[in-house]
Amino acid sequence: MAQKILIIGACGQIGTELTLALRKKHGNQQVIASDIREGNEELMNSGPFETLDATNYKAIEDIVLHHEVNEVYLMAAMLSATAEKFPMRGWHLNMDSLFNVLNLAKDKKITKVFWPSSIAVFGPSTPKTNTPQTTVMEPTTVYGISKQTGERWCEYYHNKYGVDVRSIRYPGLISYKTAPGGGTTDYAVEIYHKALEEKAYTSFLSKNTALPMMFMDDAIRATISIMEAPAKAIKIRSSYNLGGISFTPEEIAAVIKNEIPEFKIDYAPDFRQEIADSWPSSIDDTEAQNDWNWKHEFDLNTMTKAMLNGLKSLS
Ligand SMILES: NC(=O)c1ccc[n+]([C@@H]2O[C@H](COP(=O)([O-])OP(=O)(O)OC[C@H]3O[C@@H](n4cnc5c(N)ncnc54)[C@H](O)[C@@H]3O)[C@@H](O)[C@H]2O)c1
Repeated sequence: MAQKILIIGACGQIGTELTLALRKKHGNQQVIASDIREGNEELMNSGPFETLDATNYKAIEDIVLHHEVNEVYLMAAMLSATAEKFPMRGWHLNMDSLFNVLNLAKDKKITKVFWPSSIAVFGPSTPKTNTPQTTVMEPTTVYGISKQTGERWCEYYHNKYGVDVRSIRYPGLISYKTAPGGGTTDYAVEIYHKALEEKAYTSFLSKNTALPMMFMDDAIRATISIMEAPAKAIKIRSSYNLGGISFTPEEIAAVIKNEIPEFKIDYAPDFRQEIADSWPSSIDDTEAQNDWNWKHEFDLNTMTKAMLNGLKSLS
């Protein structure tokens, strides 16, 4: 059967680039984008789009049957900073959407699922540096609790019902094509915009807050790689650690200064500091390297050049 893919939450920071990458790979008509809102011009004009609420099982099922979809990438979610403001809405969206997709796979209406987890599954009691795959996990945010619970359910659906679900714990993702959606690592995207527009940035995290991060191109490559790996290679059915780079606001500012010498940074930590303090500063992704040959490519220098050049090309 030809591969037919549905992306739910396709208009977000990751969904937009993922949809475009999958369309390039499989053909525009093979990849159906969906979201509760419309996306950017390139996404809307390059292939099929459906308006879809991820919390509505019947609506997803109708689209899956109508387009003969066999693979679903579930990218709709409420992110960390926003979910702290609307805890019950965040929980409802993040859990209901996951159960809808897992149940479609359990009922054999689709054959493969991608669902992203996050470094937010870890908490203050987790070892902070080079955080291992299997370790203490006591998340303290609504978002982290929803991701950890989601991981347990993914593994359960795989073990009990044979569902082929694959997952990555994304670090903070940095991209220039689409704006971030309300996460704690958004500062590392905003800083590039402000560096070009105003030559100055006020960081909402303190200067020494190190967090795991990754350039979007690497994250898209990881997502497509784990989905293309043979099922037997995917030994972890909760979610894989994915390391990338790790840096502080002070370190990213120093690298930006190499490109824009007038750039200035100051610091005014807000409620997101507490969320960041509960997360690891770097991640060990040995299992992803061993099981499906993962290796990140972008470091802080190459990412900074790509971000600044990318943003300039859009303006
Ligand atoms: N961006 C990151 O740094 C990061 C890091 C770790 C994990 N993740 C995870 O990756 C996934 C995608 O994240 P993102 O950064 O692209 O998020 P985003 O907020 O940019 O995009 C989410 C998209 O989902 C859509 N959406 C919201 N409610 C919906 C609903 N009821 N039905 C259908 N669509 C709905 C939104 O309109 C939006 O376009 C999420 O699961 C997120 O938790 C992201």
